Amino acid sequence: MSTPDHVIRVYSNDDELPAEAERLFEAELAYSRREMPDPEAWRFVNICAVAPPGRVLGGLHMDVGPIAFGPLGGELLAYVEHLIVRPEHRNHGLGTALLRRAVEEASARGCRHIQFNVRWSNPAAIAVCRKAGFAMTCLEDGGYFVIKPTVG
Ligand SMILES: CC(C)(COP(=O)(O)OP(=O)(O)OC[C@H]1O[C@@H](n2cnc3c(N)ncnc32)[C@H](O)[C@@H]1OP(=O)(O)O)[C@@H](O)C(=O)NCCC(=O)NCCS
Repeated sequence: MSTPDHVIRVYSNDDELPAEAERLFEAELAYSRREMPDPEAWRFVNICAVAPPGRVLGGLHMDVGPIAFGPLGGELLAYVEHLIVRPEHRNHGLGTALLRRAVEEASARGCRHIQFNVRWSNPAAIAVCRKAGFAMTCLEDGGYFVIKPTVG
């Protein structure tokens, strides 16, 4: 199926999200809204591909805030919690477009770091990260890539 006409929309804590986005990112939104260690410092950024009148084709959810410790302590991190494209719209570039937009949004919010933990067993996600310009680091035992481009 070809990708329907859509717009990429960006939402944060004070915005009303489409009902489909609320369902698609229910767990991530709940975490961002209720469990952030410092809700004053951390904000979420939710990016959706929306086809009229409100059909969400796919989206990305990330949390943005200061790193708590270590040599990068205080610097802003964008942590991608989830990226998903509806199965019928995959392999048409939407996932890559959403991740590229996430990098732009992170940069615009002052982040120099963006992290996206992706399982080794997820070749589509790894392909998308490569296309969006991410560098990858392998954790020794967890079966994850940790992926960080330099932003900004
Ligand atoms: C990961 C995901 C968001 C990608 O969305 P998408 O819109 O299909 O992404 P794109 O079309 O931009 O790119 C997909 C790439 O994956 C590649 N791909 C897909 N399935 C693949 C497979 N089994 N093996 C290798 N590459 C694969 C495609 O070939 C394409 O790369 P190419 O353009 O270099 O050929 C989508 O597959 C998805 O929603 N998966 C389920 C949720 C998930 O795993 N999210 C990531 C972790 S949170």
